[in-house]
Amino acid sequence: MTILVIGATGKTGRAVVDALTARGVKVAAASRTPETVEAATHDAGPVRAVRFDWADRATWAPALEGAEGLYVVGPTAHPTGEVLVGELLAEAADVRRVALLSVIGADRLPPEVMMADWERDVRAAGAAGKEWTILRPNWFIQNFGNAFAAPLRDKGVLELPAADAALSFVDTRDVAEVAAAALTEDGHAGRIYDITGPESLTYAEALKTIAAAAGRDLTYRAISHEQAAENLRAAGVRERAITWQRGLYDLIIDGANAAVTPVVQQVTGHPARNLAQYAAEHAATWR
Ligand SMILES: NC(=O)c1ccc[n+]([C@@H]2O[C@H](COP(=O)([O-])OP(=O)(O)OC[C@H]3O[C@@H](n4cnc5c(N)ncnc54)[C@H](OP(=O)(O)O)[C@@H]3O)[C@@H](O)[C@H]2O)c1
Repeated sequence: MTILVIGATGKTGRAVVDALTARGVKVAAASRTPETVEAATHDAGPVRAVRFDWADRATWAPALEGAEGLYVVGPTAHPTGEVLVGELLAEAADVRRVALLSVIGADRLPPEVMMADWERDVRAAGAAGKEWTILRPNWFIQNFGNAFAAPLRDKGVLELPAADAALSFVDTRDVAEVAAAALTEDGHAGRIYDITGPESLTYAEALKTIAAAAGRDLTYRAISHEQAAENLRAAGVRERAITWQRGLYDLIIDGANAAVTPVVQQVTGHPARNLAQYAAEHAATWR
């Protein structure tokens, strides 16, 4: 069996490649630049890099060739991205199992996020005989080592419009293990999994954990939506993305990201990884 992993160079996709190869599954690892896949995925096993671009339909059929399973990271930045997941599934005649990366609270987010459209189209693929699983993870622990790393390292400060709300941050390796189970085992079809870490932390509490590992002071500063939008505009982020980011933070402030679920333990058989573990592994990132 071959599984096509979209977003194979990204935070969840590369971990999905690892989790699938650990199960002895053949992987087609997709990227707009397949030459970067090997470095991103450690080439842990039978991995074939394929070119796939949501914006270039000529890449879709060759990438899907031979694939019986499909891990979908949707076209977040595409101007007509809401229809593309459904259109890809219509082309994926041989795919029997699909796992969609969505997000906690997907049904409460503004339309710009497009997750509700992708979820609807994935569920509809059930009528065409595909088994589907929807993965709704909380915010990734790995954000602290990616998008949030530079401000923490350079200024020791993280500014976000998240007030003092708590989130059960999740490690993308756990999201990936749930995805790999859904794509290779029976019993996950038609399930919508809210995937979380083992503890609920405010950003201030999370930074205390990271500061302890890094051996330096790190501070969280709650900012307004308006200030956050201004910062994003100054960084060249488009209005559509600013709107969907606001939707995500509204959800956090509303408490929707605070609950801890047992999904990782139930599906993988081990406890969810916590932030302290990731912080210890990556302590140099914030120094
Ligand atoms: N970050 C979080 O905390 C979080 C939490 C829950 C859900 N999510 C969801 O996770 C998804 C990924 O978000 P992320 O920010 O963490 O990104 P990411 O997965 O780390 O990186 C994006 C991936 O998408 C691929 N990609 C980008 N444009 C593409 C295109 N036109 N065609 C094909 N592949 C393309 C990139 O591959 P190449 O550059 O190699 O082509 C890369 O592998 C989003 O849908 C987000 O809403 C994120």
